Amino acid sequence: MYKILAKTLFIGKNLVFLPSCHSTNDIAQELLSEGTLEGTVIITENQTNGRGQRGSGWESEPGKNLTFSLVLKPTFLSVQQQFELNRVVSLAVCDFLNTFSTGFQVKWPNDIYYHDRKICGILIQNSIRQGRIESSIVGIGLNINQQIFKEQKPISLSRVTGEFVPLPEALEALAQHIETRYLTLKAGNRERLHKDYLHKLYRFGEEYLYRANGELFNGRITDVSPEGKLEVESKKGIQQFDFKEVEFII
Ligand code: BTN
Repeated sequence: MYKILAKTLFIGKNLVFLPSCHSTNDIAQELLSEGTLEGTVIITENQTNGRGQRGSGWESEPGKNLTFSLVLKPTFLSVQQQFELNRVVSLAVCDFLNTFSTGFQVKWPNDIYYHDRKICGILIQNSIRQGRIESSIVGIGLNINQQIFKEQKPISLSRVTGEFVPLPEALEALAQHIETRYLTLKAGNRERLHKDYLHKLYRFGEEYLYRANGELFNGRITDVSPEGKLEVESKKGIQQFDFKEVEFII
């Protein structure tokens, strides 16, 4: 079903298609331990035990969506710069989705939303060696053609556009966007990525309700630090939050 990607420089030149597997991130980990090349893509039609952030799962109807993992070797990044990869991948997913419609944003740190509904989840697992990122597994679950979800909140690209989107074409186009953003990072153009990320950031600059340390407060997102901390301004001043330290309230 999926062929080696033709329009990229290095992503998807080694492409492993599995009709069914438990988790593409886990398979990627196995391939990495055997020394697989940077750019390797592992993709499945039916992920039976998809993994999400914070130990959660990832549900995807077989054959309807993109569920894949990409192996990167960003040794040019130090451990303190890990967030750069989240930024690159989130922006690339938005770039891809924006070719279909407007309204897609990054919900910090790296969920992709269409208005208030999640369309894509990203799970990045880094291996660190001597203070640098030796390798990285970028797991992406992007809802493309699924029409009905168990919960009400998620949405798919075809629910947004009303059109069926062929998965192999979607993978190829998304991979091109990831490659472009990744090469921008590798070339050192972090300021461009930072600016674009803020421009795409869900709820940036507007007042909303948040919860931190068990307290509800009104705040405005003002920035995301180089380490990936969310900066929120409230009557207490500007506070920085790590992932899990702050909750977005509707
Ligand atoms: C999230 O919780 O938002 C992250 C979800 C990440 C899901 C993808 S699907 C492909 C890859 N393999 C996995 O087991 N998880 C990621």
